[in-house]
Amino acid sequence: MTRTPLIVGNWKMNNLLTDTESLCAGIVDGLGSRNGVEAAVCPPFTALTTARSAIGESALGLGAQDCHAAEKGAHTGDVSAAMLLDAGCRYVILGHSERRADHGETDEDVAAKVSTAWSTGLTSIVCVGETEAERNNGSTTAVVERQVTHSIPTGGAAADKLVVAYEPVWAIGTGRTPSVEDAAAVHRHVRQILRARFGDAVADGVRILYGGSMKPDNAAAFLADPDIDGGLIGGASLKAADFLGIVEAARGG
Ligand code: PGA
Repeated sequence: MTRTPLIVGNWKMNNLLTDTESLCAGIVDGLGSRNGVEAAVCPPFTALTTARSAIGESALGLGAQDCHAAEKGAHTGDVSAAMLLDAGCRYVILGHSERRADHGETDEDVAAKVSTAWSTGLTSIVCVGETEAERNNGSTTAVVERQVTHSIPTGGAAADKLVVAYEPVWAIGTGRTPSVEDAAAVHRHVRQILRARFGDAVADGVRILYGGSMKPDNAAAFLADPDIDGGLIGGASLKAADFLGIVEAARGG
């Protein structure tokens, strides 16, 4: 089955409104009418509306970096899935390792957010990945299996509403990456878990992205692997040329 590659920019806590306007304009310009690949940016909450205007009717998608598990209510400082939809988002990144580390998010917390995102109509990009210590002690497979199993709720999974991002924590922002073979082996394992739990239609349709120091010069090798369906891009998503270079690699891959 053919899965349309998906390239997502995770801006993290970067970019003021003027940066947002120029970066979105640069990406939209370069993206043109390109088909065969889906691309999206995930700015911080404060820049979503500005990004939405800059993106206009172009093919570039919009997402956010987190949402609360509750639909609304007394949660000072938090943002709901419905607010993201209202701001023009299609995607939400959930369970990124920086949120797991900085905010103590557990797999169960992530699953609750995914449920709410789904019932709101957002596509969840669920992040999993081992730390360096876990990799060194040989528990990558077990850690990823636990995260995939418990961070994705049982009810409501659909191929177009779920994206999984495999991001080894030690590769994020470090310039280091696993080999394509090592990453692809984890991707295949994730797909097996999805197949056992949700059946063939979901397992074959879900995009499994690689994330962690993906750049224009290494993207083509990762994206050429049939089990790597795109990328979640941090640092290289902050420059239009770099992000577009990865989108271009996805078109060829
Ligand atoms: P990086 O970040 O591309 O800067 O390594 C990826 C991510 O954290 O999503």
